[in-house]
Amino acid sequence: MSRKDETPIIGESPAFMSVLEQVSEVAPLSRPVLVVGERGTGKELIAERLHFLSGRWQAPLVKLNCAAISEALLESELFGHETGAFTDASRKRLGRFEHAEGGSLFLDELSSTSMSVQEKILRVIEYGEFERLGSSRTRKVDVRLIGATNQDLPELAKKRQFRSDLLDRLAFDVITLPPLRARREDILSLAEHFALRMTRELDRDLFAGFSRDASRKLLGHSWPGNVRELKNVVERAVYRNTNPKEPAREIDFDPFDSPWRPVSGSPAPSTGLPDPADGPLDWHKTISEMETGVLKKALEHCEFNQRKTAEHLGLTYHQLRGLLRKYEMTGDG
Ligand SMILES: Nc1ncnc2c1ncn2[C@@H]1O[C@H](COP(=O)(O)OP(=O)(O)OP(=O)(O)O)[C@@H](O)[C@H]1O
Ligand SMILES: [Mg+2]
Repeated sequence: MSRKDETPIIGESPAFMSVLEQVSEVAPLSRPVLVVGERGTGKELIAERLHFLSGRWQAPLVKLNCAAISEALLESELFGHETGAFTDASRKRLGRFEHAEGGSLFLDELSSTSMSVQEKILRVIEYGEFERLGSSRTRKVDVRLIGATNQDLPELAKKRQFRSDLLDRLAFDVITLPPLRARREDILSLAEHFALRMTRELDRDLFAGFSRDASRKLLGHSWPGNVRELKNVVERAVYRNTNPKEPAREIDFDPFDSPWRPVSGSPAPSTGLPDPADGPLDWHKTISEMETGVLKKALEHCEFNQRKTAEHLGLTYHQLRGLLRKYEMTGDG
């Protein structure tokens, strides 16, 4: 990857600007950095920025997700191995540290490494020394380590699930990314950025913006999945907008949301609808049961906020109140 392939970073909220400032300050130093933040907050993007703003930008940026590989393989992934180091090692192989020589190594989900791997990582960042598996020869590397986690590492260290000495060393500088709900000022500019990218991807000429109601929904959501969630919601809204000349209106936070969603643990009937082929049905009772079922689910989904529930079901508030009264579900006591 070269500097020009860098993903643009969007965000001008004070909370995010101060992070970017910290990134620019620490980037040129050849010291380890830890990037911390909830899922989807942009940790990987920030790691890339740290690399490209450092003097190492022309050397490789190597990435490895520590949670994606078994512990046994992780060690050889990181440090490489010699022929015959273990049963399957028919050839020698360079590890990620060697691949990153002169550059940066991004270790994602660092908290999922074992204590013994952590000890070896500490040795590389302290002394630049390691051995390939199956070799006693000590090798030298010059690599800057960038770690990322969404875990509370000091807490894990207290519980002795993460090495304190490695934590101390990594914590030379800790960059903590604010969740999206703490920087609402960035929501609409991020949304616009992702919408324009999706428009291009769909080969459409025009993105007519979001309707006022859609923007209000985007601003009001709590975004537990942060920027990644926003990106998905926006891309879905753009692609579902069948008339691109009109502003995008439909914001669907949960594509799985459906009255027919299978419930884990209970066997799902094939359609979710009572089947007259199974025997005689009482029309009125069946319809009431379906209506109360959908109402209950919708109320729960909308945290019993009746206005939201009405909106969610495409009903007016008065229509919803009428139905709730009919089924004695008003909850007004
Ligand atoms: N400030 C931003 N500007 C533009 N795009 C962003 C920004 N922050 C995050 N993104 C985009 O959001 C998505 C998630 O970001 P990223 O993968 O860096 O998050 P993460 O914190 O590493 O998530 P996870 O904890 O799940 O690994 C990516 O597609 C990324 O490009
Ligand atoms: Mg990540």
